[in-house]
Amino acid sequence: MQSTIDLINRRVRDAVASAFDLDPATVDPLVRRSQDDRFGDYQSNCAMGLAKRIGQKPRDVAEKIRAALVIDDLCETVEIAGPGFLNLRLKPGYVAMELATIENADAPHDRVGTLPTSEPVCVAVDLSSPNLAKELHVGHIRSTVIGDCVARVLEFAGHDVHRINHVGDWGTQFGMLLAYLRRTQPDVLIDPVKLHLPDLEKFYVEAKSFYDSDENFAKTSRETVIELQRQDPQVMAVWRAFCNESLRHCHEAYDRMDVRLEDRGESYYREMLPDVVRMFEEKSLAVESNGAICVFPNRDRFKTRDGDPLPMIIRKSDGGYNYDTTDLAAIYHRIEKLGAKRLVYVVGMPQKQHFDMLFAAAGLIGWAGEDVSLEHLAFGSMLGPDGRPFKTRDGGTIKLRDLLNEAVDRARKVVTESEKSNDLDAAMVEEIAEAVGIGAIKYFDLSHALNSDYRFDWDHMLAMEGNTAPYLMYAYARIRSIGRKANVDYDSLDTFAPIVLEHGSEIKLGKVLLRFAETVDMVARDLKPNILTDYLFDLSKAFSTFYDRRNGVRVIDAEPESLKLSRLRLCDLTARTLRIGLGLLGIRTVEKM
Ligand code: ARG
Repeated sequence: MQSTIDLINRRVRDAVASAFDLDPATVDPLVRRSQDDRFGDYQSNCAMGLAKRIGQKPRDVAEKIRAALVIDDLCETVEIAGPGFLNLRLKPGYVAMELATIENADAPHDRVGTLPTSEPVCVAVDLSSPNLAKELHVGHIRSTVIGDCVARVLEFAGHDVHRINHVGDWGTQFGMLLAYLRRTQPDVLIDPVKLHLPDLEKFYVEAKSFYDSDENFAKTSRETVIELQRQDPQVMAVWRAFCNESLRHCHEAYDRMDVRLEDRGESYYREMLPDVVRMFEEKSLAVESNGAICVFPNRDRFKTRDGDPLPMIIRKSDGGYNYDTTDLAAIYHRIEKLGAKRLVYVVGMPQKQHFDMLFAAAGLIGWAGEDVSLEHLAFGSMLGPDGRPFKTRDGGTIKLRDLLNEAVDRARKVVTESEKSNDLDAAMVEEIAEAVGIGAIKYFDLSHALNSDYRFDWDHMLAMEGNTAPYLMYAYARIRSIGRKANVDYDSLDTFAPIVLEHGSEIKLGKVLLRFAETVDMVARDLKPNILTDYLFDLSKAFSTFYDRRNGVRVIDAEPESLKLSRLRLCDLTARTLRIGLGLLGIRTVEKM
């Protein structure tokens, strides 16, 4: 099924082309969803631009478009407003028919009216990507959660997605860690499986304080880096054991958060680094400066504080490589070896310049042509409740593990305090607490615009009312329980039964349901998860009005039977859209709450 907005876009484009004798390919119909229901469901803003282009009055242009528009089957009479907006309101009959065909469409049951893309591409999403020296902490949540959501949406849209965990597992700090490991756990040299790091964070802190206070140890550390870079087998064995152990910690949290990742850390590219430098040199794109090799991706755009052109140092004067070189190798690998046409980097705002320069360099050397899209999905910071960097009481970092535990504990309280918790057994309470607690953290994060900072707020994210995971999860569970109470098996409802949209609340719900397809398209294009959270919140609100005794309609006791069936189908569609939509956010639904 084609999304409604696409359909309207096409109709308006054709109308403009025929009214003004233009090539349809040159027409942008500029159809948007209306901000306010009172002005209709969609609006086209193209008359104003067109008026300029052809030198006529905007309202006249709008008038002519309206006259040429063939859209009776979809919309009520088109209205012209303001300087020349075309306001479009969907006909309930159209909405009903489209909804009724959702099930009958070729698309499988679990797509609720969305179609996979006809142009699948290979996408590389770079997400989470912690430095392995430390344990996952609150600072890793955003990249992990946003990246996972984006990957899920792109997968759902039918693309071939690589979820790359570009972990920091190579570089100078590993000399220190390995040297400390050799000192404290010499057994590891003989048998790497013996490695035991129950608390990575503590290990890092201890190693660092040794490094800072003991000159001998610092010297050994530096020597160990060199051994590592030479790939001395013994040091490599310790390094590997360390990385495995550290990744095991990470994956405990990833598993708990339902996040699937391909670990491909910086070390993966270590052998390619000299080639990267050579490729830039061969194209005369690298210059030497004080013994270091530099690339200037754009001298006018990237400048130092003093206004001098800013280089990317791709080989240091001591012969070592750095973060930039590794990212160049990785971008080359993703484009040339994986065949990625879209590269998405889910990394915080502070690295904006790094990615701007990286993308410019990849363009300069010709790896990223017109057909490759490079996107830095930069996000703001997650702040503590006081609006300052999120820390423990004594100023330490908050481990992700501890935060997840606290979320689940708090969710358990919310669940057991609700009066509906009586018919839940202990195992169910645990399942719900886990889903709600982790869902709440994810949802709260995803519902904020990417580029803004936000304050962590337990009470807000766990509230049963408002734009929160518990509210949406509860809406889902409620619909499921309506089915149980009415002895209805949603899965065996007659999918050929017509959908009837009569009552205002029913029409509204129908329209929101129909919007799911275009919402998913939009998120897959713009990669803004909060478009999806806003949509799901709208859907839950529309459902709650529809089901409300006073403002909505009767469902279980609706008559005649055909109306009851139509309304049950709306319930079922809502539940499935919620389940799939929350699933795209990485949030599990539960049948009871
Ligand atoms: N490990 C880096 C950090 O903690 C993030 C890596 C992001 N991905 C990348 N390809 N540079 O800051």
